[in-house]
This record gives sequence, structure tokens and C-alpha cells, in this order.
Amino acid sequence: MSTVQQYIDDNIDTFKDELFQLLRIESVSTDSSKKSEVKKAAKFLAGHLEEIGLDDVILHETDGHPIVTAQKSVDPDLPTILIYGHYDVQPPDPEELWETPPFEPTVKDGRVYARGSSDDKGQSFTHVKAVAAYLQTETDLPVNVKFILEGEEEIGSPNLIPFIKEHKEMLSCDMVLISDTAMFAEDQPSITYGLRGLAYMEVHVTGPSKDLHSGVFGGAVENPVNALANIISKLKDEDGTIQIDGFYDDVEEMTSEMREEYSKLPHNDATYMSDLGITELHGEKGYSTLERASARPSLDVNGIWGGYQKEGAKTVLPSKAGAKISMRLVPDQDPRTISKLFTNYVKSIAPESVDVEVIEHHGGHPIVIDLEYYGLQAAAQAFEDVYEKEALFSREGGSIPIVADFKKILGVNSILMGFGLTKDALHSPNESFSLKDFHRGIKTSARFMQLLPEFREEG
Ligand code: BES
Ligand code: ZN
Repeated sequence: MSTVQQYIDDNIDTFKDELFQLLRIESVSTDSSKKSEVKKAAKFLAGHLEEIGLDDVILHETDGHPIVTAQKSVDPDLPTILIYGHYDVQPPDPEELWETPPFEPTVKDGRVYARGSSDDKGQSFTHVKAVAAYLQTETDLPVNVKFILEGEEEIGSPNLIPFIKEHKEMLSCDMVLISDTAMFAEDQPSITYGLRGLAYMEVHVTGPSKDLHSGVFGGAVENPVNALANIISKLKDEDGTIQIDGFYDDVEEMTSEMREEYSKLPHNDATYMSDLGITELHGEKGYSTLERASARPSLDVNGIWGGYQKEGAKTVLPSKAGAKISMRLVPDQDPRTISKLFTNYVKSIAPESVDVEVIEHHGGHPIVIDLEYYGLQAAAQAFEDVYEKEALFSREGGSIPIVADFKKILGVNSILMGFGLTKDALHSPNESFSLKDFHRGIKTSARFMQLLPEFREEG
């Protein structure tokens, strides 16, 4: 075993303790009362990058949360990788459903439970430790490395795009390395070569100027909750086909080769259903589960409100109702265009009897990466060497909007080397991350760095 791989094995307990320190920080980016916690996480990482021996560690203040950058150049003739990760996390809500406190990392059955353990503190920290292993053992880094760690991924990276545009030189690289996705299955490494994009909307429906007695006024006055339910019911048909005019116009149809590749992936609908506690699947007719969840667009209500929500019954005709709706996009759908189509459609079906406002939130472009790319091949080999199993290539349904911007602004591909699992419960209560995959993740990252120059030669 190489010195670096041995070092990782010998120090894994320390690495876990360091990760746990990061997991204790409540860096919820969407919660303004947690702003100082988000900064604390940025400072922790900046301090850590400095400690392991990286150069030019900078904590950049932005209009929102900080961006941390660092680098180590060894030789201009070697490939340069830019490691991206996010240290912000989703809110822990609903907190009462956590079995152990969300910000007190707790180890159970080889997994660490904490908000952000998988998404994305645990996963992105693997690369920090891989680089540390080279620097601490005084083994020459086989590549030049740069880091860019942000605190706003979960809110759509509003300050990262302008930052990348302004710092193109500083961030120039051959490829971006990201671990913020999932493996295909337990012990089944996989490289994600596609992500869906996102258009996120909010719909507000207003009726009477105040809440009314539902007996006195019900039947004579439009109820905003009813009107909203009606609008939502027209967004998709019974088969899950989206009804928004023009929605599918730019969708790239799957070729028979693509479908053939998909069908070879080891997926089982029965296990999928039992893992999720459902007895039937639902989605667009004519597509498989994996296709529906990654190669086809989708539309979902993410939140809905209006009227009386507390215990018991209160007879009321509410004045307002609202919903948050996300649409996951595939090539070549454009989030702006889709947001406009959504707004026009909702306005066109909104009853005259209520006022309907549509708000556009953040979005992101979908991305598909060329499978022939040498970086992907090196990543697959690194996985195989560490996991002792051939890596699969698959597309995923989640979004990391900045991936498309890295391509557009810096002109580079991203390698999505996920160490998570779908059972990690991302964004849900009791999020967790396998400590074995944390360990193997560090080793895979270190191995990838070692293999990359060779693969570039061959490719
Ligand atoms: N890590 C996820 C994205 C992800 C999860 C990709 C699983 C593939 C598989 C990321 O942190 C995330 O949650 N992204 C948001 C983006 C949004 C807030 C702009 C998402 O997909 O909802
Ligand atoms: Zn996330």
C-alpha cells in the first residue's frame, strides 16, 4: 500500500473527529438567524485548510455567506483540479422527528447521524483529507489542487456565479471534482454523469381581504385554498405528464442506446418501493423508474399552506393560500424559459375570482457530461481500486446548479464522485453518512489524484 493510503488508514479516527467538529456547526444557509454559524463553518474550514498546508487560503466575504478558496501548485505541467464542496446545510426541520440531535453527530451501526453528514460536509471533507494525506506525508501531490467551498448551495448559490466570473484566473483548472451525489447502491461505486436542473416557483392566491366564516360566506365567495388546489391539479395529468404549454419542447428525448444503458443498471422496483415505504410507483407513462427520476423532467409541490392548521376544527374560509413548486429539468430545458412558461400557464388557468401571484425562485441548468472524458475514466479506475468493484455510470435527479456554470464560465467538466447513498436521508430527518464510505472516499480521492496524470497521457 502507498504511504498516502497507509496514512489515511492510520489516521481515520482523527479525520472522523475533525468531521464531527464541522458537523456540530449549525450552518443552515436559508436561516438568517444562523448567519454567524455559517461563517463559523467557513472559518473552521479555512483554518483547517491552512493547518494541512495549503497556500493562499482566503475567506471571501460576499453579500451572503462566505466562499473559501485555497490552492497548492506543484508543477504547471500536471493537471489542476478544482475541488468544490458546500459547507451549508438544509434546515433540520422537522426537528422532532430526529432520533438524535441534528447537530450532535452520533455514531450508530457504522454511520454518523447529523445534518450535513452526507450533504455535503462529510462528502466534501473526503477531499480535504486526501490532500492532507499527501501534504502530511510529504509525498509529492500528483496534481495541482484548488479548493472552492461555498455556504449557499442549498439556497441556489446566488453569490457563487458572480464570484466565479470575477475570479476566472484564480479558479482556472482542468476539471472540477465534486462529491455531493450518491453511489448507485451500497458497495456499488458509481460516477454521476448527469444532473437535473431546477426551476423553483411560489404561487400566492389571495381572495377576500380577511378570513371569513365558512358557513356565512362559503358557497358565495371563492376560497383561495380551493382555487390553489384547482390550479395545482391542472399542472399534471393523472399519469404525471406536465400540462404546462411548451414544457416539453426542449426536452432531449432519450435515444434507444441511452435507454438500453439505463436498463442495464441494477435497479429493482420492489426494493425501491419497500425502501421508501410505498406500494405503488407513479410517474410518466412509458418510462422506467430510473428514467423518470433522472432523465425526464418532473414537477412537485414542495410545500403548501392556507387556512386552519392546528388541532381540531375551525370553520374558516381563508383569505390566502400558497404553494412552493419545484420543476426538475433535463437537457435542453432552460430554467428561465420554464419559469416563464409556468407563470403564463398558471395565470391562464387562474380563476378571475382570486388574485394569483407567481414568484420565481432560484434555478439551475441541467447537465450531462461526456462519458469519454479522461477524468471520468480516472475516477472510475480509482473507485475500482478502492472498492474492488467496477464503477457504474448513471445520471441522477438532484441538482448542483453550479456544475453547468463551471462548464459555461470556466469551460471545464465536473467529475461527480459521490460517496453518499440514497438511504442517507438528505434533506430529511436523521440524515446520515456511512463512516466506511467516508474512509473509502478519502482513499478514492487520493487514488484519483494519483491516477489522473496517467489517464491524461493515455487520453
Ligand atoms: N447534494 C444535493 C444534490 C444531489 C443529491 C444530487 C442527490 C444528486 C443526488 C445538493 O446539495 C442539493 O440538495 N441541491 C439542491 C439544489 C437547489 C437547492 C438549487 C437540490 O437538488 O434540491
Ligand atoms: Zn442538499
